[in-house]
Amino acid sequence: MSQKVSLIRGDGIGPEIVEATVRVLDGLDAGLEWEEVRAGSGAFNDLGTPLPEETLLSIGRNKVALKGPLETPIGTGFRSINVAIRKHFDMYANVRPAKIMPGVNTRYSDTGVDLVTVRENTEGAYSGIEHTIPPNRAAAETIILCTRWACERIVRYAFDYARRAGREKVTLVHKANILKETNGLFLEVGQSIAREYDDIKFEDVIVDNMCMQMVMRPEQFDVLVTMNLFGDILSDLAAGLIGGLGLTPGANIGKDASMFEAVHGTAPDIAGQGVANPTALLRAASMMLEHLDMVEKARRLDQAIEAVLGRGEVVTGDLGGSATTEEYTDALLAEIESQ
Ligand code: NAI
Repeated sequence: MSQKVSLIRGDGIGPEIVEATVRVLDGLDAGLEWEEVRAGSGAFNDLGTPLPEETLLSIGRNKVALKGPLETPIGTGFRSINVAIRKHFDMYANVRPAKIMPGVNTRYSDTGVDLVTVRENTEGAYSGIEHTIPPNRAAAETIILCTRWACERIVRYAFDYARRAGREKVTLVHKANILKETNGLFLEVGQSIAREYDDIKFEDVIVDNMCMQMVMRPEQFDVLVTMNLFGDILSDLAAGLIGGLGLTPGANIGKDASMFEAVHGTAPDIAGQGVANPTALLRAASMMLEHLDMVEKARRLDQAIEAVLGRGEVVTGDLGGSATTEEYTDALLAEIESQ
């Protein structure tokens, strides 16, 4: 029986990298059936809403979605649709692996980087509880929401993930020295749950020090667990360590539905030129295959990406090459064919 997946092509480079990913997954014979739905600025322009009801119904039915990036207007306009979908389905764990890929030259290629950010995805500074104070927006307030329940859930997820993935250490990142209540609660819960997992090492690091440590010695980190805002920022920092946003995937995991996407945005500067790197979304697709228990297909996809990048002959502009999205996709399909 085929597995239905809700497919959102998205905005900017979204349709280009989604097309590449669908071609590769079809080439893998993963037995996926695509249910196409809309979201983002394109949907807003065509349908008058950035998040049609049918999209939510589709994700609810299929429980799995693959999504291209969506444009969010800055400062004004509709709220982030990414955040809205994550919230609607309570996709509480945002998992973002950052690993140096073969053939990709980075400042850290000698020591290596292989870390996974596990970010709390529903609360914190992204609780959406914010307002302005009149007159004339004289002030604005955003509530950092932090429930014990959500802290426990994300820290436990990080430890279970570490165990499943054969990883050795969880680093909890916080700012409890200043944000004593919210971040203090997160840290207290983390320290308490860590005692249940004596096979996994545990440490906590203050976020400002963490930024420096990640730049100076990223190889010391394994699994990071942190709240929403810091997770958002640190996972982009991690993407920079491994060669850029074009390579970093993300999974939004919930009990009732999960959504897989690239960490990067719509890249308006290169949209429509056919030169975007689809690797981040392809690696997100690999996480999706694993989530669907298609572990062998996921490994084949990973191997194909590593082989093509490793040879360095057909790579996109962001990695210093000159291949188009289509040429890179063709190279991946040829690699899969030869496996
Ligand atoms: P961005 O990630 O779109 O672009 C940053 C830089 O990275 C640009 O120079 C871009 O060309 C490059 N880049 C990104 N992905 C690439 C790829 N696959 N291949 C080659 N180069 C790539 O970030 P920006 O410009 O801050 O955001 C643009 C829009 O994307 C905004 O509307 C933002 O809200 C949205 N966005 C959406 C996300 C999502 O849907 N998950 C995540 C982040 C931003």
